[in-house]
Amino acid sequence: MILEDEAATLKWAEQFALTLKPGAVIAISGNLGAGKTVVSKGICKALGFQGNVSSPTYTIVHEYPNTPPLFHLDLYRLSDGTDLEEVGWDYFITSKGITLIEWPERLGKNQAEITHVIQIKILSDNRREITVEEKSPQ
Ligand SMILES: Nc1ncnc2c1ncn2[C@@H]1O[C@H](COP(=O)(O)OP(=O)(O)OP(=O)(O)O)[C@@H](O)[C@H]1O
Ligand SMILES: [Mg+2]
Repeated sequence: MILEDEAATLKWAEQFALTLKPGAVIAISGNLGAGKTVVSKGICKALGFQGNVSSPTYTIVHEYPNTPPLFHLDLYRLSDGTDLEEVGWDYFITSKGITLIEWPERLGKNQAEITHVIQIKILSDNRREITVEEKSPQ
């Protein structure tokens, strides 16, 4: 799908969010500035969270109070060798919430728990190509 501007990406994410079930673990891939946080904002908004959504770049994870619970991870600055258990991975994936992961390339062995992969490609300043793949249960 081609998204002509940020508003189109937000709208796409809001629609996509409505297909999600509690327990979903969503990898959001794309280069710096591709729109991973924009997609995260749209998903959180559509699921009822009205607060601010921003990249948890330094804290690695933001937990937004919501039903279902929302976990927003940004693994860009995850130090090499850091075990995801230390940031609460088991808690996220057993909480029947929705887990959003920017920079999922750093998940290592935990990749297996991903249920959806979103890929965002920058075509120009404002245009993006977005794809989503649902993983079959392991
Ligand atoms: N079609 C579009 N969809 C999404 N964002 C767009 C689009 N066109 C322009 N933008 C701009 O691209 C930027 C995307 O920023 P965003 O923080 O979401 O990227 P990111 O992938 O999360 O980056 P980072 O890797 O730094 O976390 C914003 O400034 C947004 O306004
Ligand atoms: Mg981001």
